[in-house]
Amino acid sequence: MALRVVQWTTGNVGKRAVRAVASHPDLELVGCYAWSPDKVGADVGELCGLDDALGVTATNDVEALLALKPDCVVYTPMWPDTDELVRILSAGANVVSTAAFINGRGLGVGRDRIAEACAAGGSTMFGTGISPGFIDLLGIATASICDRIDKITINEASDTTLYDSPDTERPAGFGRPIDDPELPGMAAAGTAVFGEAVAMVADAIGVELDDIVCEAEYAQTTEDVVMDSWTIPAGHVAGVAASWQGKVGDRTVVELNVRWKKGATLEPNWAIEEGHVIQVDGMPTVRVKVDYLPPPDFQATTFADFMVIGMVMTAMPAVNAIPYVVAAPPGIVTYTDLPLPLPRGWVPRG
Ligand SMILES: NC(=O)c1ccc[n+]([C@@H]2O[C@H](COP(=O)([O-])OP(=O)(O)OC[C@H]3O[C@@H](n4cnc5c(N)ncnc54)[C@H](OP(=O)(O)O)[C@@H]3O)[C@@H](O)[C@H]2O)c1
Repeated sequence: MALRVVQWTTGNVGKRAVRAVASHPDLELVGCYAWSPDKVGADVGELCGLDDALGVTATNDVEALLALKPDCVVYTPMWPDTDELVRILSAGANVVSTAAFINGRGLGVGRDRIAEACAAGGSTMFGTGISPGFIDLLGIATASICDRIDKITINEASDTTLYDSPDTERPAGFGRPIDDPELPGMAAAGTAVFGEAVAMVADAIGVELDDIVCEAEYAQTTEDVVMDSWTIPAGHVAGVAASWQGKVGDRTVVELNVRWKKGATLEPNWAIEEGHVIQVDGMPTVRVKVDYLPPPDFQATTFADFMVIGMVMTAMPAVNAIPYVVAAPPGIVTYTDLPLPLPRGWVPRG
């Protein structure tokens, strides 16, 4: 029997999740939530740019979606909503999320409410993505060849000039005057989910952390950075870096760094190594560079076409986790609780 799946919103990541769910023999798309009023009533295949209709209509009727008794909701809204998650989980639907969730630590009391909803509904909550998510799992796998682990570091770096998403970038400090008094705490608030991932990696290597801290850096642009939907004026923040550190005493044992910059007019002008680099210091010290490339037959004419790669690799860790999350006991789970989610079903036929 295929697992019954409801897709929650059809944005960048959601569109790729729908494609994957609809094409997998062990999964069945039975419903779809639409946040945008103009998506309500539309066929989900059409909303996701598929050639064929899927015969599933997007709706904003949450009760009707929960009445479908889905095994799992693929939760990919722009912002997570604790009330919404509580409603889904207490109705008995499991959730795989890409929306800023690893263990819920950053949600404060919201985490307790989600855990209670899981207990009430007998359901399981899991969060992943490419980073945080898959890349931390890869860091954990990397460390599994060492007989001494001094530190696990994961660096993410990217020039995000062509990534035009002011709603998600402003909360981390992008676009603020470089001397804005609000700035110091913004990167930590805007990247809090990476702190959750630090806790997961520490748990995976059996380390009890004394503290998780975030050190932030900002860089201003010396010229206006003009993007499609907004401009960052000279003297404003066009580079944000956050270093999330898991501490034992004053020693950092797990360090997850993100460094995002826009263009070449930054001050200071950070040199970055694009993509992800994992380093496990220990015996042995292991370094893994992860690049993400399109397949040779990839047809791309616009930047948006290339953006699809990032959306695929954000959606797939969630989609591949569905059977494992459905089978897991109720509660909030991370990669440290689940068997390795296997990427079954994606080898093209013929
Ligand atoms: N961990 C990772 O590696 C990773 C990587 C990338 C993204 N993410 C996260 O994954 C989630 C989805 O990313 P995305 O790029 O697909 O997002 P998106 O396309 O910008 O937005 C997703 C959907 O959210 C709904 N939405 C739009 N504005 C909203 C608002 N103000 N309040 C609530 N909902 C709103 C819309 O739903 P409708 O489709 O119904 O209109 C939209 O399509 C985000 O939470 C993002 O931060 C995680």
